[in-house]
Amino acid sequence: MKVSMFEKVALGVLVSAWLVYGVNAIGNLLVHPKPLETTAFPAAGGADKAPAPAAASATPASAPPKAADALAMLASADAASGAKAFKKCKACHSTEKGGKHKLGPNLWDVVGRGKAMASGYTFSPALKGLGGEWTYKDLDGFLAAPKAFAKGTKMSFAGIKKPGARAAIIAYLRTLSDQPKPLP
Ligand code: HEC
Repeated sequence: MKVSMFEKVALGVLVSAWLVYGVNAIGNLLVHPKPLETTAFPAAGGADKAPAPAAASATPASAPPKAADALAMLASADAASGAKAFKKCKACHSTEKGGKHKLGPNLWDVVGRGKAMASGYTFSPALKGLGGEWTYKDLDGFLAAPKAFAKGTKMSFAGIKKPGARAAIIAYLRTLSDQPKPLP
């Protein structure tokens, strides 16, 4: 087969395009330009000191989830899908009235319950120190990032990043009651 000059040039262009594309793809594979899954927190002890300017100007992609997002979605949230999502909590939490505490406390009637007040369960000082009741807003904050909301909590759970998923789980928690609390 006779290969013309034009074909050679065209092939050359094609091959270099592939090369650029391939290198790019491999680069992406190696580097993973993926936003942080979990929020980065200041090192222990540094929390109440002035935040570093660098942290303040962090990109929105890694900014902590806004509590208001899930709260606004609560009224329309699907408790049934929250019940499904609760599977990841089930290893540590029972939900029946009078259910046994597992690694974590029983969650019957947790909405509106005093924080760290489940009787017969030994809470961490971190959770005991929070004070007040589990409002929707506080549940949202805690479930978004347990370790940030209650520094030192023994609930080893990374948190639910998606506001919609959090809203669904909170809507489900609300149903664990003889008298579900009014939505906000
Ligand atoms: C690995 C086990 C584990 C998983 C998974 C887990 N939790 Fe917990 N949870 C705990 C522990 C332990 C505590 C007690 C924390 C403390 O005392 O610091 C707790 C505390 C809580 C509290 C506070 C209860 C109270 O009475 O003050 C809520 C609410 C809660 N968890 C909800 C959830 C939800 C919802 C999920 C799933 C999205 C979940 N947890 C997943 C272990 C877990």
